[in-house]
Amino acid sequence: MIGADVPYAASLLKAGKLVAIPTETVYGLAANALDEKAVQAIYLAKGRPQFNPLIIHTNSIERLQEWGLKVPEQAIKLANAFSPGPISFVIPTSNAIPEIVTAGHAFVAVRIPNHPVCLELLSMLPFPLAAPSANKSGCISPTTAQHVADQFGTQIPYILDGGACHIGLESSIVSFANTNPQLLRLGGLAKESIEKVLDCELSISHIQNNENPQSPGLLSRHYAPQTPLLLDLDLEVNQLGNMHQLGCIRFQHLHPDIPPENQYILSEMGSLDEAAQHLFMAMRLADSRNFKYLLAEIFPAHGLGLAINDRLKRASIQL
Ligand code: TXA
Ligand code: MG
Repeated sequence: MIGADVPYAASLLKAGKLVAIPTETVYGLAANALDEKAVQAIYLAKGRPQFNPLIIHTNSIERLQEWGLKVPEQAIKLANAFSPGPISFVIPTSNAIPEIVTAGHAFVAVRIPNHPVCLELLSMLPFPLAAPSANKSGCISPTTAQHVADQFGTQIPYILDGGACHIGLESSIVSFANTNPQLLRLGGLAKESIEKVLDCELSISHIQNNENPQSPGLLSRHYAPQTPLLLDLDLEVNQLGNMHQLGCIRFQHLHPDIPPENQYILSEMGSLDEAAQHLFMAMRLADSRNFKYLLAEIFPAHGLGLAINDRLKRASIQL
């Protein structure tokens, strides 16, 4: 059921149930992070491999102390600048956090989401929420309550509706597991903004596909539509067959050779933030049209363009 009843959502979570929650990045599939059984239900519902750890969410950085978590100084610096916001911090875990949340790692990912409905919910709870994106494992993250309902139907008892997510990409993940901070996932906060506050250049982890990846969301194929997606680099579109069977995801301008009604422009005014907000929605809509192939443009490589290109690359195939 989709609804906007925050106290009801809180009561379900307190009873160990799953609730889909709105955040500014994407919708999450949430459960009490301190309740192993409830967390287990998240893995089951998503079909998520057990080695892939979860981010925990609460309504302030200070509250993390309640669960014995100590936030490193540099993470505090970032939190002061950007939390609540689209950034997660990987910090040392504590005894209060069950191993199932961290997949046995010595570090846990934490995040303060910037969404009024979500913050209200989190303030009503005596525990943090473990919440991966509310999609089946490997699929596109949901940016509306309806996307969640489309995939999970009655499998989860309640979907808390907070409208369309205004960032539209998952959080950027910064790890403090090593001496130097590392960017584990490009996301809704631009790399340049993070680097400015930390006053250093961040290396991006390129872990592809091993048994126990540091951030398994970085598996090489991820966030994928059903329709084969091709990155339009130097592609000869007329080799792909009938133009009417091709769909297209573009930044600002139409592809000259493909019918306009098959194309999804992410930002007419050329804003990468707006493009990020529309990306997953466009991927879903285009996917539902049963095209033979989807073509996506490479976006400008700065700001959220980097994260957009990252998601498109993971969603794509090579001919
Ligand atoms: O914006 C977001 O981050 C959304 C919303 C719901 O908060 N959540 C999200 O969760 O995208 P998920 O599970 O779909 O992606 C979390 C990523 C995964 O790639 C996971 O491997 C990584 O974070 N991760 C979680 N805990 C980690 C840890 N302790 N160390 C390293 N990576 C971790
Ligand atoms: Mg995810």
